[in-house]
Amino acid sequence: MSIRLSNGSEIPIEMHKVRIVQKVRLAPVRDRLRAMEDAGYNTFLLRSRDIFLDMLTDSGTNAMSDNQLAAMMQSDDAYAGSESFYKLEESVREIFGYQYVLPCHQGRAAEHLLAKTFVKPGHIVPMNYHFTTTKAHFDLAGGKVLELYGPEALVTESSFPFKGNMDLGRLKDAIDEAGPANVSFVRMEATTNLIGGQPFSLENLRQVKALVEPLGIFLVVDGSLISENAYFIRQREPGYENTSIRDIIREIMSVADLCYLSGRKSCSVRGGMIATNRKDLHEAIRPWLPVYEGFYTYGGMSSKEIEAMAVGIREMTELEVAGASADAIKYFVGLLQTKGIPVVTPPGGLACHVDAMRFIDHVPQSEYPAGALAAAVYITSGIRGMERGSVSMDRDKDGNDVPSDMELLRLAVPRRVYTMSHFQYAADRLRWLYDHRKMIGGLEFYEEPPVLRFFGGKMKPTKSDWGLALAQAFEDHFGPGC
Ligand SMILES: Cc1ncc(COP(=O)(O)O)c(C=O)c1O
Repeated sequence: MSIRLSNGSEIPIEMHKVRIVQKVRLAPVRDRLRAMEDAGYNTFLLRSRDIFLDMLTDSGTNAMSDNQLAAMMQSDDAYAGSESFYKLEESVREIFGYQYVLPCHQGRAAEHLLAKTFVKPGHIVPMNYHFTTTKAHFDLAGGKVLELYGPEALVTESSFPFKGNMDLGRLKDAIDEAGPANVSFVRMEATTNLIGGQPFSLENLRQVKALVEPLGIFLVVDGSLISENAYFIRQREPGYENTSIRDIIREIMSVADLCYLSGRKSCSVRGGMIATNRKDLHEAIRPWLPVYEGFYTYGGMSSKEIEAMAVGIREMTELEVAGASADAIKYFVGLLQTKGIPVVTPPGGLACHVDAMRFIDHVPQSEYPAGALAAAVYITSGIRGMERGSVSMDRDKDGNDVPSDMELLRLAVPRRVYTMSHFQYAADRLRWLYDHRKMIGGLEFYEEPPVLRFFGGKMKPTKSDWGLALAQAFEDHFGPGC
């Protein structure tokens, strides 16, 4: 939640108190450089002990509530028929209005089950934007992911409120060309992760449904960040300013045919699920659950996490929970803007996204500017962000690099974890880096996995050892040991 101060400015205010803390360490810049080199300039390969602020992701890294932790103590570990599952089912019925629930170990497991069941070779899967694991699963099943976003989606600096909307004209053309029988389903991601956590509007969702329903195509919502998308609808879509988050989520679900999600985000646990009211869809997926995940009533999740998810689903509908990271991100983005750092606007739902193409416009896209910026930010601050650009795109069938639509450094804001002083520190170090941006060079791979290479790939500076020079400049400015 944001609160207005007497001078008219707004700050994010925590509607909770902190009663358990975890120590962090700010390693000196020389150690950070060494850690980055050992990690092959890939922030995924850093060790947690070397990280000061972990802004890699909001996935599974949120602070849980006291009620979630308490619920975990009451879990039922029965292999089959666990009471914990029935509590989850009850929550989903109450909040989403969906009768059928399939738990799974995380979001990509749900994607795998959907791909296995519905995506056939030669199919297209239209969506507002892809997510890495979504695309990997749908590609592996022989489908073709089509991203049918509107003209505003890729404009980094913008005031357009719903950059996650689907372009209806492009959707109609794509279905006409493929034929409805060759469309697995249409997928709408609630706050499109890879283009800045940008929401879709309810109006757009309804229009998509009106287009596909008569053609017998079903509509899937990736609800990993459903409460944030609902929060933005409340703030930005006319007519919803007084509607509760709970009612908005319920309305989204009444339009969609099926929702799957990673429980690691809005729900603040580690798990996932698929839910629907469509018996035919449920029954098509259900046989595969014990094959790939686990029995119907745990699906690969621990019973403790299922209990916490049952609570998290209810809690994410509280206004101050739904807005906890969105308001912090808005503050963080505002701070960076006042310091002249190019960021994606309007602020999105999971992170502050820095536009690497503008931050280091001298680094060509073929040398992975977003990856280079992520490494440089870590060296100068101890903050771990994530590359969301061409490193996150796998090569095409002929082995060519696929340039990403955007080169973004994602600084994720896990829910209820960091405070204003952390954001101020981050903004200060980013400004220092911006003043020294010409020192940052490009990267090239020396180890590259064939799929989802951003997780395990290793890189090194293309030309001079710019990491060392940057660390030296930082030490000259702030003194040794900083
Ligand atoms: C929108 C979206 N869908 C799916 C996933 C995959 O979920 P998981 O990481 O739980 O496998 C993510 C993860 O970040 C996501 O952001």
